[in-house]
Amino acid sequence: MQAVDLDQIDLTGAVPEEETDRQYFFMAKARNYVQALADTLGRTPTCCVTTFGCQMNARDSEKLVGILEKVGYRIIDSEKADFVIFNTCTVRDNANQRVYGRLGELNGYKRRNPHMRIALCGCMMQEPAVIEKLRKSYGFIDLIFGTHNIFKFAELLCASFESKGMLIDIWKDTDQIVEDLPVERKYSFKSGINIMFGCNNFCSYCIVPYVRGRERSREPKDILREIEGLVADGVVEIMLLGQNVNSYGKNLDSPMTFSELLREIEKIEGLKRIRFMTSHPKDLSDELIQVMKESKKICRHLHLPLQSGSTKILTRMNRRYTKEQYLALAEKIRREIPDIAITTDIIVGFPGETPEDLEETIDVVKRVKFDNAFTFIYSKRTGTPAAAMEDQVPEEQVKVGFDRLLHVVQDTAREQVARCQGQIMDALIEEVNETDPTMVTGRLSNNTIVHVPGDVSMIGTIVKVSLDTCHGFYYIGHVAE
Ligand code: SAH
Ligand code: SF4
Ligand code: F3S
Repeated sequence: MQAVDLDQIDLTGAVPEEETDRQYFFMAKARNYVQALADTLGRTPTCCVTTFGCQMNARDSEKLVGILEKVGYRIIDSEKADFVIFNTCTVRDNANQRVYGRLGELNGYKRRNPHMRIALCGCMMQEPAVIEKLRKSYGFIDLIFGTHNIFKFAELLCASFESKGMLIDIWKDTDQIVEDLPVERKYSFKSGINIMFGCNNFCSYCIVPYVRGRERSREPKDILREIEGLVADGVVEIMLLGQNVNSYGKNLDSPMTFSELLREIEKIEGLKRIRFMTSHPKDLSDELIQVMKESKKICRHLHLPLQSGSTKILTRMNRRYTKEQYLALAEKIRREIPDIAITTDIIVGFPGETPEDLEETIDVVKRVKFDNAFTFIYSKRTGTPAAAMEDQVPEEQVKVGFDRLLHVVQDTAREQVARCQGQIMDALIEEVNETDPTMVTGRLSNNTIVHVPGDVSMIGTIVKVSLDTCHGFYYIGHVAE
């Protein structure tokens, strides 16, 4: 990452046309506004970024924080701050409802702090109906922007300081990928890395392709350079992020497969662990299984969303695989990499789903023996093909099915996690245990959590741990050497 000194930027000159220079210009300018605010307040202004949704959003928030720190805000966890940003998610309706609820609270804080500013960004902002509602009933918001122009945050921040009332800037789409902006990661020793943006799959229930736009891959050289920089800065584990990492690289000027990218990343010295998500089953290649099998760094964990075990429902979901194809794929992965953990996402209550369809899903859960599964109740998303399907499932049937599935999922997960009992494995120590400060929490390659006696000095190191007792979904153990 290039280090840009804001003091070297001449604000009396013309605004640069080219990104990334343009955004650094606006960072220098925004810094003056923040300084002026600090003079008024008699202290450093505080800022809080609250993230809803997936790892992609979490990474975006780190980019926002990178800029906010650069322009002079002090980052705090409390929303009683001088500047609060909600980075929103709209994948299910409850994500939206949470945002509206929290906005009410923010309004209360703002009444008590006249200098407070509120910004909203993220996936929810890409929905015109949301913008209408905010415009009408949430006039206290200062700045609204979307997923496609988040790279312009510094510029938008300046514009917001210069204007009164609500400033809204939403782009319908973009093909731009702006590199080299500042980013402040949450953990010193691990980091997410975007390898692609958007999604082209249009699963019939899903709003992501509408709010994140078309699939775009980053250039491999930019990805490798970013990882090398992170490793030099102390990162040992990375998580490659994309809605469908298995289709990485298809649209690059010189196409490259995800497996080829992984081979290149593997060579980076000092990098210890590689994770990625998410994999779409329809695009998971034999080459990828082979690369994972041979790799010393790729973690023994694959998140492979099933969504449903019924071929009829899968077809209506536009997932483009059958129950049998999924089962065959999972079996192949388990055969080639026996110590791998397979996790999944499942939706209950998709339009047209009968109790028999749910039995098919439960059958897959039992046969694949997922190490963990995230189960979701289907949420109707306006504008998606599934929202227009007629046979929406009655709430009571969904509830009964969901509870039944959850039990099966928990049983298989417990059984799977217990497989490692008594073994010695590498764990990356991530934090001091919240409830017991004499313990630290680590993560195994297969993503299982283990708590061991230890202290803060161990954070970010990989240690051998003995997995003594399994407590359902995690282990209590001790450092083995
Ligand atoms: N790109 C990833 C998923 C991103 S969304 C993939 O294809 O696997 C994360 C999960 O949210 C999905 O796997 C799905 O299980 C769930 N999800 C998406 N849309 C949903 C909806 N309308 N209702 C309920 N769950 C949904
Ligand atoms: Fe949504 Fe499907 Fe794309 Fe995943 S692959 S983000 S579920 S459309
Ligand atoms: Fe949500 Fe957007 Fe992620 S809708 S799940 S935050 S891509």
